[in-house]
Amino acid sequence: MSIAVFASGDGSNFEVLVEKSRRQGWPQSITLLITDRPEAPVLERAQRLGVAAMAFRPSDYENKAAYEEAILAELRKQGIQRILLAGYMRIVGPVLLEAYRWRILNIHPSLLPAFQGKDAPEQALNYGVRWTGVTVHWVDQGIDTGPIIDQKPVLVEPGETVDSLRKKIQFVEHNLYPMVVRKWLTGEIHSPEGKE
Ligand code: GRF
Repeated sequence: MSIAVFASGDGSNFEVLVEKSRRQGWPQSITLLITDRPEAPVLERAQRLGVAAMAFRPSDYENKAAYEEAILAELRKQGIQRILLAGYMRIVGPVLLEAYRWRILNIHPSLLPAFQGKDAPEQALNYGVRWTGVTVHWVDQGIDTGPIIDQKPVLVEPGETVDSLRKKIQFVEHNLYPMVVRKWLTGEIHSPEGKE
């Protein structure tokens, strides 16, 4: 039984998840990285960490379903049981959602349901909230709408910039996400339907 991480960008969450899974001896290991961007820096991290990585460029496929079918075939071939989205900048479609119902988690850089979608730290700063934060949630068909598992707040301080806020949020993400995933793998957290 193993886990795949989906990421589109830098991959700092991916790296922390892999490191903690190894250090803490999780019951399932992260054995595959999937990216939709062949140029994403996360691929270098995967190589350095010795995690197999595959890039699927959506434009190489006829439509989203075909793109996801290609990924799904690989996930099945590699015995992937669970999926962690970590900065994966696409909406998961019905093909993957049905195959991995309540077996996909996401991390989002805000206290959902506030500031869904892209650039959540910037949205929070522009809105002028005093507190924002981090949410880990199940993935459903919406954009950052699935049932919430856990959240942690982050204070927006006077003089905060998008960069400084992003850094603070990432620091919290790097603790919260691995903690939630470990609890999920050890059965402390149950899916919304009470089964895997
Ligand atoms: C994180 O802030 C995550 O919450 C969001 O995208 C960012 C990814 O960062 N969905 P990284 O690629 O893990 O460094």
